[in-house]
Amino acid sequence: MAARRFDARAGAALSAPAVCAIAGAGFDTFPELSGLTISLDSTQAVIDRERSNRTLVRGWLYGICALVAAMVVVGGATRLTDSGLSITEWELLIGIVPPLSEADWQIAFDKYKQLPEYRLVNEGMSLAQFQFIYWWEWAHRLLGRIIGVAFIVPLVWFWVAGRIEPKLKLRLLLLLAMGALQGAVGWWMVRSGLVDRVDVSQYRLAVHLTLAAVIFAYALWIARGLAVHSDERADRVLHGLAPTMVVVTGLQIFAGALVAGLDAGLAFNTWPRMDGALWPDGLLVQEPAWRNFFENPKTVQFVHRLIAYGLVLLVLVNWVSSRSRSNGETHRRRGLVLLALVLVQAVLGVVTLIWQVPIGWALAHQATAFALLGFAVAHWRALRGSYPAVTGLRVAG
Ligand code: HEM
Repeated sequence: MAARRFDARAGAALSAPAVCAIAGAGFDTFPELSGLTISLDSTQAVIDRERSNRTLVRGWLYGICALVAAMVVVGGATRLTDSGLSITEWELLIGIVPPLSEADWQIAFDKYKQLPEYRLVNEGMSLAQFQFIYWWEWAHRLLGRIIGVAFIVPLVWFWVAGRIEPKLKLRLLLLLAMGALQGAVGWWMVRSGLVDRVDVSQYRLAVHLTLAAVIFAYALWIARGLAVHSDERADRVLHGLAPTMVVVTGLQIFAGALVAGLDAGLAFNTWPRMDGALWPDGLLVQEPAWRNFFENPKTVQFVHRLIAYGLVLLVLVNWVSSRSRSNGETHRRRGLVLLALVLVQAVLGVVTLIWQVPIGWALAHQATAFALLGFAVAHWRALRGSYPAVTGLRVAG
Protein backbone atom coordinates (compact mmCIF):
# COMPACT_ATOMS: atom_id res chain seq x y z
CA MET A 1 0.00 0.00 0.00
CA ALA A 2 1.28 3.49 -0.82
CA ALA A 3 2.41 5.60 2.12
CA ARG A 4 -0.28 7.94 3.33
CA ARG A 5 0.50 11.38 4.64
CA PHE A 6 -0.72 12.26 8.05
CA ASP A 7 -1.08 15.86 9.12
CA ALA A 8 -0.67 16.00 12.88
CA ARG A 9 -2.88 19.08 13.00
CA ALA A 10 -5.68 17.61 10.96
CA GLY A 11 -6.94 15.14 13.51
CA ALA A 12 -5.72 16.74 16.69
CA ALA A 13 -3.09 19.24 17.80
CA LEU A 14 -0.34 16.71 18.30
CA SER A 15 3.28 17.49 18.98
CA ALA A 16 5.97 15.30 17.45
CA PRO A 17 6.63 13.45 20.72
CA ALA A 18 2.90 12.81 20.90
CA VAL A 19 2.99 11.33 17.39
CA CYS A 20 5.80 9.05 18.51
CA ALA A 21 3.84 8.17 21.60
CA ILE A 22 1.01 7.10 19.31
CA ALA A 23 3.46 4.86 17.53
CA GLY A 24 4.34 3.34 20.87
CA ALA A 25 0.68 2.78 21.63
CA GLY A 26 0.27 0.89 18.37
CA PHE A 27 -1.70 1.76 15.28
CA ASP A 28 -4.75 -0.31 16.12
CA THR A 29 -6.01 2.17 18.66
CA PHE A 30 -5.96 4.94 16.00
CA PRO A 31 -7.76 3.71 12.89
CA GLU A 32 -6.92 6.90 10.97
CA LEU A 33 -3.27 5.90 11.13
CA SER A 34 -3.74 2.48 9.55
CA GLY A 35 -1.87 2.21 6.27
CA LEU A 36 0.74 4.70 7.44
CA THR A 37 3.99 3.11 6.38
CA ILE A 38 6.58 5.63 7.51
CA SER A 39 8.38 4.88 10.70
CA LEU A 40 6.99 7.20 13.31
CA ASP A 41 10.14 6.78 15.37
CA SER A 42 11.99 8.70 12.69
CA THR A 43 9.27 11.33 12.37
CA GLN A 44 10.88 13.75 14.77
CA ALA A 45 14.21 13.45 13.00
CA VAL A 46 12.57 14.10 9.61
CA ILE A 47 10.76 17.13 10.95
CA ASP A 48 13.86 18.48 12.66
CA ARG A 49 15.89 18.11 9.49
CA GLU A 50 13.24 19.79 7.40
CA ARG A 51 13.08 22.64 9.88
CA SER A 52 16.83 23.13 9.98
CA ASN A 53 17.02 22.99 6.16
CA ARG A 54 14.36 25.67 5.95
CA THR A 55 16.13 27.84 8.52
CA LEU A 56 19.40 27.53 6.60
CA VAL A 57 17.96 28.26 3.17
CA ARG A 58 15.89 31.09 4.57
CA GLY A 59 18.88 32.73 6.27
CA TRP A 60 20.90 32.43 3.08
CA LEU A 61 18.11 34.07 1.04
CA TYR A 62 17.76 36.89 3.57
CA GLY A 63 21.48 37.49 3.12
CA ILE A 64 20.98 37.64 -0.66
CA CYS A 65 18.14 40.14 -0.20
CA ALA A 66 20.36 42.33 2.00
CA LEU A 67 23.12 42.22 -0.61
CA VAL A 68 20.68 43.11 -3.40
CA ALA A 69 19.38 46.05 -1.35
CA ALA A 70 22.98 47.21 -0.73
CA MET A 71 23.64 46.83 -4.44
CA VAL A 72 20.67 49.06 -5.22
CA VAL A 73 21.96 51.78 -2.89
CA VAL A 74 25.51 51.59 -4.29
CA GLY A 75 23.98 51.63 -7.79
CA GLY A 76 22.00 54.75 -6.83
CA ALA A 77 25.15 56.44 -5.53
CA THR A 78 26.94 55.45 -8.75
CA ARG A 79 24.22 57.15 -10.76
CA LEU A 80 23.94 60.22 -8.54
CA THR A 81 27.70 60.82 -8.67
CA ASP A 82 27.59 60.35 -12.47
CA SER A 83 30.07 57.50 -12.15
CA GLY A 84 28.28 54.85 -14.19
CA LEU A 85 30.18 55.31 -17.44
CA SER A 86 33.66 55.47 -15.96
CA ILE A 87 34.53 51.84 -16.80
CA THR A 88 34.14 51.44 -20.52
CA GLU A 89 34.59 47.66 -20.75
CA TRP A 90 32.97 44.60 -19.27
CA GLU A 91 35.04 41.56 -18.42
CA LEU A 92 33.59 39.09 -15.97
CA LEU A 93 36.83 37.92 -14.34
CA ILE A 94 39.62 40.30 -15.37
CA GLY A 95 37.36 43.28 -14.66
CA ILE A 96 37.64 42.56 -10.95
CA VAL A 97 41.20 43.94 -10.94
CA PRO A 98 41.24 47.75 -10.87
CA PRO A 99 44.10 49.69 -12.50
CA LEU A 100 47.16 49.05 -10.32
CA SER A 101 49.80 51.37 -11.70
CA GLU A 102 49.87 55.00 -12.74
CA ALA A 103 50.14 53.85 -16.37
CA ASP A 104 47.05 51.59 -16.03
CA TRP A 105 45.06 54.47 -14.57
CA GLN A 106 46.10 56.66 -17.46
CA ILE A 107 44.93 54.03 -19.97
CA ALA A 108 41.53 53.75 -18.24
CA PHE A 109 41.26 57.54 -18.12
CA ASP A 110 42.16 57.86 -21.81
CA LYS A 111 39.38 55.41 -22.70
CA TYR A 112 36.92 57.45 -20.68
CA LYS A 113 38.07 60.61 -22.48
CA GLN A 114 36.71 59.12 -25.73
CA LEU A 115 33.14 59.22 -24.37
CA PRO A 116 30.68 62.00 -25.12
CA GLU A 117 30.10 62.28 -21.34
CA TYR A 118 33.72 63.35 -20.85
CA ARG A 119 33.78 65.75 -23.79
CA LEU A 120 30.44 67.41 -23.01
CA VAL A 121 30.24 67.25 -19.21
CA ASN A 122 33.60 66.48 -17.63
CA GLU A 123 36.13 68.08 -19.98
CA GLY A 124 39.30 68.94 -18.03
CA MET A 125 38.55 66.57 -15.15
CA SER A 126 41.66 65.56 -13.15
CA LEU A 127 42.91 61.99 -12.76
CA ALA A 128 41.92 62.11 -9.08
CA GLN A 129 38.37 63.11 -10.04
CA PHE A 130 38.27 60.29 -12.56
CA GLN A 131 39.45 57.83 -9.91
CA PHE A 132 36.61 58.93 -7.63
CA ILE A 133 33.94 58.04 -10.20
CA TYR A 134 35.84 54.91 -11.25
CA TRP A 135 35.79 53.53 -7.71
CA TRP A 136 32.00 53.90 -7.44
CA GLU A 137 31.35 51.96 -10.62
CA TRP A 138 34.00 49.39 -9.68
CA ALA A 139 32.38 48.89 -6.24
CA HIS A 140 28.98 48.46 -7.88
CA ARG A 141 30.30 45.79 -10.23
CA LEU A 142 32.30 44.11 -7.46
CA LEU A 143 29.18 43.85 -5.32
CA GLY A 144 27.40 42.27 -8.30
CA ARG A 145 30.11 39.61 -8.51
CA ILE A 146 29.95 39.06 -4.73
CA ILE A 147 26.20 38.48 -4.99
CA GLY A 148 26.83 35.96 -7.78
CA VAL A 149 29.27 34.00 -5.63
CA ALA A 150 27.13 34.33 -2.49
CA PHE A 151 24.26 32.83 -4.45
CA ILE A 152 25.95 30.12 -6.48
CA VAL A 153 28.31 28.59 -3.90
CA PRO A 154 25.68 27.91 -1.19
CA LEU A 155 23.18 26.87 -3.86
CA VAL A 156 25.49 24.11 -5.06
CA TRP A 157 26.41 23.18 -1.51
CA PHE A 158 22.79 22.91 -0.30
CA TRP A 159 21.79 21.10 -3.48
CA VAL A 160 24.49 18.45 -3.15
CA ALA A 161 23.82 18.06 0.58
CA GLY A 162 20.12 17.45 -0.17
CA ARG A 163 19.04 20.45 1.84
CA ILE A 164 16.86 21.99 -0.86
CA GLU A 165 13.25 20.84 -1.05
CA PRO A 166 12.31 19.54 -4.51
CA LYS A 167 9.75 22.28 -5.15
CA LEU A 168 12.29 25.00 -4.41
CA LYS A 169 14.83 23.85 -6.97
CA LEU A 170 13.20 25.35 -10.03
CA ARG A 171 12.46 28.56 -8.16
CA LEU A 172 16.09 28.96 -7.12
CA LEU A 173 17.29 28.27 -10.66
CA LEU A 174 14.89 30.94 -11.86
CA LEU A 175 16.42 33.38 -9.34
CA LEU A 176 19.86 32.48 -10.66
CA ALA A 177 18.74 33.12 -14.24
CA MET A 178 17.31 36.50 -13.23
CA GLY A 179 20.60 37.41 -11.58
CA ALA A 180 22.53 36.54 -14.75
CA LEU A 181 20.04 38.51 -16.82
CA GLN A 182 20.51 41.49 -14.49
CA GLY A 183 24.26 41.50 -15.17
CA ALA A 184 23.54 41.57 -18.90
CA VAL A 185 20.92 44.31 -18.51
CA GLY A 186 23.42 46.37 -16.49
CA TRP A 187 25.94 46.24 -19.30
CA TRP A 188 23.21 46.87 -21.93
CA MET A 189 22.36 49.99 -19.90
CA VAL A 190 25.95 51.23 -19.63
CA ARG A 191 26.46 50.70 -23.36
CA SER A 192 23.62 53.10 -24.12
CA GLY A 193 25.72 55.88 -22.59
CA LEU A 194 28.99 55.10 -24.33
CA VAL A 195 28.10 56.66 -27.68
CA ASP A 196 26.01 59.63 -28.81
CA ARG A 197 24.73 60.61 -25.36
CA VAL A 198 26.02 61.80 -21.99
CA ASP A 199 23.79 59.61 -19.86
CA VAL A 200 22.38 56.11 -19.97
CA SER A 201 18.93 55.54 -21.47
CA GLN A 202 16.16 56.06 -18.93
CA TYR A 203 14.36 53.04 -20.38
CA ARG A 204 17.33 50.79 -19.67
CA LEU A 205 17.88 52.30 -16.23
CA ALA A 206 14.22 51.62 -15.41
CA VAL A 207 14.46 48.01 -16.61
CA HIS A 208 17.65 47.55 -14.57
CA LEU A 209 16.16 48.93 -11.33
CA THR A 210 12.85 47.13 -11.82
CA LEU A 211 14.60 43.80 -12.42
CA ALA A 212 16.58 44.39 -9.20
CA ALA A 213 13.23 44.91 -7.46
CA VAL A 214 11.82 41.68 -8.95
CA ILE A 215 14.89 39.67 -7.86
CA PHE A 216 14.73 41.16 -4.37
CA ALA A 217 10.99 40.51 -4.08
CA TYR A 218 11.18 36.95 -5.39
CA ALA A 219 14.06 35.97 -3.09
CA LEU A 220 12.19 37.41 -0.14
CA TRP A 221 8.98 35.67 -1.21
CA ILE A 222 10.70 32.29 -1.20
CA ALA A 223 12.45 33.01 2.11
CA ARG A 224 9.24 34.05 3.84
CA GLY A 225 7.53 30.94 2.50
CA LEU A 226 10.03 28.93 4.54
CA ALA A 227 9.25 30.75 7.77
CA VAL A 228 6.71 29.67 10.35
CA HIS A 229 3.69 31.99 10.37
CA SER A 230 1.66 32.22 13.51
CA ASP A 231 -1.55 33.81 12.17
CA GLU A 232 -4.25 32.01 10.25
CA ARG A 233 -4.88 32.81 6.59
CA ALA A 234 -6.55 36.18 6.14
CA ASP A 235 -9.83 36.90 4.35
CA ARG A 236 -10.39 37.56 0.63
CA VAL A 237 -10.24 41.36 0.77
CA LEU A 238 -6.84 41.38 2.46
CA HIS A 239 -5.72 38.68 0.05
CA GLY A 240 -6.64 40.95 -2.84
CA LEU A 241 -5.03 44.06 -1.38
CA ALA A 242 -1.66 42.44 -0.60
CA PRO A 243 -0.57 41.60 -4.18
CA THR A 244 -2.02 44.89 -5.42
CA MET A 245 0.25 46.78 -3.03
CA VAL A 246 3.25 44.78 -4.25
CA VAL A 247 2.44 45.41 -7.93
CA VAL A 248 1.78 49.13 -7.47
CA THR A 249 5.00 49.53 -5.47
CA GLY A 250 6.87 47.77 -8.29
CA LEU A 251 5.24 50.07 -10.84
CA GLN A 252 6.20 53.08 -8.74
CA ILE A 253 9.81 51.91 -8.60
CA PHE A 254 9.78 51.69 -12.41
CA ALA A 255 8.28 55.20 -12.60
CA GLY A 256 10.83 56.51 -10.06
CA ALA A 257 13.68 55.16 -12.17
CA LEU A 258 12.29 57.04 -15.18
CA VAL A 259 12.22 60.22 -13.07
CA ALA A 260 15.82 59.57 -12.03
CA GLY A 261 16.96 58.60 -15.53
CA LEU A 262 15.56 61.77 -17.06
CA ASP A 263 16.82 63.96 -14.17
CA ALA A 264 13.18 64.96 -13.92
CA GLY A 265 13.60 65.64 -10.21
CA LEU A 266 15.77 68.66 -11.01
CA ALA A 267 12.82 70.53 -12.54
CA PHE A 268 9.38 71.49 -11.18
CA ASN A 269 10.67 71.51 -7.60
CA THR A 270 7.46 72.51 -5.88
CA TRP A 271 4.87 70.45 -4.06
CA PRO A 272 1.88 69.96 -3.97
CA ARG A 273 1.68 72.24 -7.02
CA MET A 274 3.69 71.45 -10.06
CA ASP A 275 4.50 74.19 -12.57
CA GLY A 276 1.97 76.36 -10.71
CA ALA A 277 -0.96 73.93 -10.78
CA LEU A 278 -2.19 70.75 -9.13
CA TRP A 279 -2.76 69.31 -12.63
CA PRO A 280 -0.16 71.04 -14.82
CA ASP A 281 -0.53 71.82 -18.54
CA GLY A 282 1.68 70.45 -21.27
CA LEU A 283 1.65 66.85 -20.21
CA LEU A 284 1.02 65.55 -23.72
CA VAL A 285 3.08 67.90 -25.90
CA GLN A 286 5.18 65.19 -27.52
CA GLU A 287 3.91 63.09 -30.42
CA PRO A 288 2.81 60.31 -30.26
CA ALA A 289 1.18 60.82 -26.87
CA TRP A 290 2.56 57.64 -25.27
CA ARG A 291 6.09 59.04 -25.55
CA ASN A 292 5.30 61.63 -22.90
CA PHE A 293 4.95 58.91 -20.29
CA PHE A 294 8.56 57.83 -20.85
CA GLU A 295 10.39 60.80 -22.32
CA ASN A 296 8.72 64.03 -21.16
CA PRO A 297 10.26 64.88 -17.74
CA LYS A 298 7.17 66.81 -16.71
CA THR A 299 4.74 63.97 -17.46
CA VAL A 300 7.07 61.36 -15.98
CA GLN A 301 7.40 63.28 -12.71
CA PHE A 302 3.66 63.95 -12.60
CA VAL A 303 2.85 60.27 -13.11
CA HIS A 304 5.28 59.41 -10.28
CA ARG A 305 3.35 61.78 -8.03
CA LEU A 306 -0.02 60.31 -9.05
CA ILE A 307 1.09 56.73 -8.43
CA ALA A 308 2.44 57.83 -5.03
CA TYR A 309 -0.96 59.25 -4.05
CA GLY A 310 -2.66 56.06 -5.25
CA LEU A 311 -0.22 53.91 -3.29
CA VAL A 312 -0.68 55.89 -0.08
CA LEU A 313 -4.44 55.49 -0.47
CA LEU A 314 -4.14 51.77 -1.14
CA VAL A 315 -1.96 51.18 1.91
CA LEU A 316 -4.38 53.24 4.00
CA VAL A 317 -7.31 51.11 2.81
CA ASN A 318 -5.28 47.99 3.64
CA TRP A 319 -4.59 49.27 7.15
CA VAL A 320 -8.26 50.11 7.79
CA SER A 321 -9.36 46.74 6.36
CA SER A 322 -6.79 44.82 8.36
CA ARG A 323 -8.17 46.34 11.55
CA SER A 324 -11.71 45.18 10.89
CA ARG A 325 -11.17 42.01 8.82
CA SER A 326 -7.98 40.42 9.99
CA ASN A 327 -8.11 37.39 12.20
CA GLY A 328 -4.50 37.80 13.26
CA GLU A 329 -2.66 40.36 15.34
CA THR A 330 0.49 40.22 13.20
CA HIS A 331 -1.52 40.88 10.00
CA ARG A 332 -2.82 44.02 11.67
CA ARG A 333 0.61 45.08 12.87
CA ARG A 334 2.05 44.65 9.40
CA GLY A 335 -0.72 46.85 8.00
CA LEU A 336 0.37 49.60 10.37
CA VAL A 337 4.08 49.24 9.54
CA LEU A 338 3.26 49.41 5.83
CA LEU A 339 1.32 52.60 6.38
CA ALA A 340 4.19 54.16 8.32
CA LEU A 341 6.67 53.15 5.62
CA VAL A 342 4.65 54.54 2.73
CA LEU A 343 4.16 57.86 4.55
CA VAL A 344 7.88 58.15 5.31
CA GLN A 345 8.61 57.29 1.68
CA ALA A 346 6.23 59.98 0.40
CA VAL A 347 7.82 62.58 2.70
CA LEU A 348 11.31 61.53 1.53
CA GLY A 349 10.12 61.90 -2.07
CA VAL A 350 8.81 65.41 -1.48
CA VAL A 351 11.99 66.45 0.36
CA THR A 352 14.16 64.97 -2.42
CA LEU A 353 12.13 66.95 -4.93
CA ILE A 354 11.92 70.34 -3.29
CA TRP A 355 15.61 70.32 -2.30
CA GLN A 356 16.57 69.35 -5.85
CA VAL A 357 17.85 65.84 -5.33
CA PRO A 358 20.56 66.02 -2.64
CA ILE A 359 22.39 62.70 -2.81
CA GLY A 360 21.71 61.60 0.79
CA TRP A 361 17.97 62.18 0.56
CA ALA A 362 17.73 60.64 -2.89
CA LEU A 363 19.48 57.50 -1.61
CA ALA A 364 17.23 57.35 1.46
CA HIS A 365 14.23 57.63 -0.89
CA GLN A 366 15.53 54.79 -3.02
CA ALA A 367 16.38 52.55 -0.06
CA THR A 368 12.99 53.11 1.57
CA ALA A 369 11.30 52.12 -1.71
CA PHE A 370 12.93 48.70 -1.30
CA ALA A 371 12.05 48.52 2.39
CA LEU A 372 8.43 49.20 1.44
CA LEU A 373 8.50 46.62 -1.34
CA GLY A 374 10.11 44.06 0.95
CA PHE A 375 7.57 44.59 3.66
CA ALA A 376 4.67 44.39 1.20
CA VAL A 377 6.03 41.09 -0.13
CA ALA A 378 6.54 39.71 3.38
CA HIS A 379 2.99 40.72 4.25
CA TRP A 380 1.56 39.03 1.16
CA ARG A 381 3.49 35.84 1.81
CA ALA A 382 2.44 35.79 5.47
CA LEU A 383 -1.23 35.99 4.46
CA ARG A 384 -0.75 32.82 2.41
CA GLY A 385 1.22 30.97 5.08
CA SER A 386 4.33 28.80 4.65
CA TYR A 387 4.99 26.29 1.88
CA PRO A 388 3.40 22.97 2.82
CA ALA A 389 5.85 20.70 4.64
CA VAL A 390 7.59 18.15 2.42
CA THR A 391 6.86 15.30 4.79
CA GLY A 392 3.20 16.26 5.08
CA LEU A 393 3.73 16.29 8.81
CA ARG A 394 3.25 19.53 10.60
CA VAL A 395 3.89 19.74 14.24
CA ALA A 396 2.59 22.59 16.32
CA GLY A 397 5.15 25.02 17.73
C1 HEM B 1 5.26 56.80 -2.01
C2 HEM B 1 5.85 55.99 -2.83
C3 HEM B 1 7.09 56.28 -3.63
C4 HEM B 1 7.96 55.33 -4.06
C5 HEM B 1 7.85 53.82 -3.80
C6 HEM B 1 9.01 56.00 -4.80
C7 HEM B 1 10.08 55.33 -5.39
C8 HEM B 1 11.08 55.96 -6.11
C9 HEM B 1 12.19 55.28 -6.72
C10 HEM B 1 12.49 53.79 -6.65
C11 HEM B 1 12.96 56.20 -7.34
C12 HEM B 1 14.23 55.94 -8.17
C13 HEM B 1 15.44 56.31 -7.41
C14 HEM B 1 16.72 56.14 -8.19
O1 HEM B 1 16.81 55.37 -9.14
O2 HEM B 1 17.70 56.80 -7.82
C15 HEM B 1 12.33 57.47 -7.12
C16 HEM B 1 12.83 58.67 -7.61
C17 HEM B 1 12.28 59.90 -7.30
N1 HEM B 1 11.12 60.13 -6.59
FE1 HEM B 1 9.95 58.74 -5.71
N2 HEM B 1 8.76 57.34 -4.80
C18 HEM B 1 7.60 57.57 -4.10
C19 HEM B 1 7.00 58.81 -3.89
C20 HEM B 1 7.50 60.02 -4.31
C21 HEM B 1 6.90 61.31 -4.10
C22 HEM B 1 5.59 61.56 -3.34
C23 HEM B 1 7.71 62.24 -4.68
C24 HEM B 1 7.56 63.74 -4.76
C25 HEM B 1 6.43 64.36 -4.89
C26 HEM B 1 8.83 61.55 -5.26
C27 HEM B 1 9.89 62.13 -5.93
C28 HEM B 1 10.94 61.49 -6.51
C29 HEM B 1 12.04 62.15 -7.19
C30 HEM B 1 12.24 63.64 -7.35
C31 HEM B 1 12.88 61.15 -7.68
C32 HEM B 1 14.20 61.32 -8.47
C33 HEM B 1 15.36 61.22 -7.52
C34 HEM B 1 16.68 61.07 -8.25
O3 HEM B 1 16.90 61.67 -9.28
O4 HEM B 1 17.51 60.32 -7.71
N3 HEM B 1 8.67 60.20 -5.03
N4 HEM B 1 11.19 57.30 -6.38
